[in-house]
Amino acid sequence: MEAGVITLINVFTFILLTGQAVTGLKDVRVTVPIAVTRGDNARLRCHFDLEGDQLYSVKWYFGPREFYRYTPREKPAIKMFPVMMNKALDIDTSSSNETQVTLKNVSTPFSGRYSCEVSADAPSFHTALVSGEMTVVVVPQSRPVLMGVKPRYRIGDTLRANCTSPGSRPAANLTWVLNDDPVDTRFVRQYRGMQQTDLETSTTTLEMPLMVRHFTKKGRMKVRCAASIHNIYWQTTEKSAEEERPRGLVNDVVQSVHYRPDDFEEGDVYGDDEIDPTSSSFGSYGKSGVPRTLHGKTLLIGVATLLGVSRRPLMAD
Ligand SMILES: *[C@@H]1O[C@H](CO)[C@@H](O)[C@H](O)[C@H]1NC(C)=O
Ligand SMILES: *[C@@H]1O[C@H](CO)[C@@H](O)[C@H](O)[C@H]1NC(C)=O
Ligand SMILES: *[C@@H]1O[C@H](CO)[C@@H](O)[C@H](O)[C@H]1NC(C)=O
Ligand SMILES: *[C@@H]1O[C@H](CO)[C@@H](O)[C@H](O)[C@H]1NC(C)=O
Repeated sequence: MEAGVITLINVFTFILLTGQAVTGLKDVRVTVPIAVTRGDNARLRCHFDLEGDQLYSVKWYFGPREFYRYTPREKPAIKMFPVMMNKALDIDTSSSNETQVTLKNVSTPFSGRYSCEVSADAPSFHTALVSGEMTVVVVPQSRPVLMGVKPRYRIGDTLRANCTSPGSRPAANLTWVLNDDPVDTRFVRQYRGMQQTDLETSTTTLEMPLMVRHFTKKGRMKVRCAASIHNIYWQTTEKSAEEERPRGLVNDVVQSVHYRPDDFEEGDVYGDDEIDPTSSSFGSYGKSGVPRTLHGKTLLIGVATLLGVSRRPLMAD
């Protein structure tokens, strides 16, 4: 009785302040996770504004079946119902109430549509139903398996590789990344396959002609395959390759150039790797970053640059 009187006064105050009658239930929204890993808990939320009305009930449905009912006037307030012949949703009643229901240890048959129905008590008796989809995910047992990447390629070679994500549910999405850039999908094919039980494997193949831009300035290439499932699973596997260059010429030039040893800073390396044939900046050779005007070195780099440019004639990129 006490509580009812207080509520009546509140409603009366509300009408006085706003100058209009209470209109009942509004802003009914549901928050259902898009994906949950099998075995985890899932918290489903139902938001609503009764605008001063009393709550009559909150009901939750999986598909067309009611599995949870919260009725504040009844004892107990929470009631649960089985939704399938041999499977019941495992509800954590200690963290379930009028605005949320927590499912424990979710399993794959419980992927689907979850709806919340809110009903206001007298005088409005308003009712609203809102829904969301949830997928229970079985993540792959291991990261994607990347095969076929060779240690060395020449410009013009075809990069052929494949990548398989072992059984999952649903099938993982696979994407290719080359040196941090996504690969153009016209070089990619996707396949799906069933594995024992009810898990699906995903395979993707990559077949792409290699161009200068596919290698870093140091002639390296990183091939990465990423497997993802909604927002809950993300794993990558990476392989490195390098550009096969005709080394002989550059090394011959290095040896034939005359220079004074003290022109060079300790730690400088004069192998093929440190000569950047695509760059005309000499500054990168000095640790300070300031271009130096050493005769022998400038000549060396100049020759190397010419060689570098001339052995990549007219690459249509
Ligand atoms: C429902 O339970 C959650 C978590 O236990 C809590 O944060 C929330 O305030 C509760 N809501 C109501 C209306 O009791
Ligand atoms: C979770 O559910 C599976 C069946 O779906 C059951 O085999 C397992 O024992 C359950 N685990 C817990 C901790 O309840
Ligand atoms: C993937 O590549 C490896 C190595 O090139 C090859 O042996 C295998 O058959 C390929 N698998 C698929 C599914 O294309
Ligand atoms: C795969 O990607 C598509 C397109 O982005 C997306 O709609 C789908 O939900 C993704 N599937 C999974 C299992 O993540």
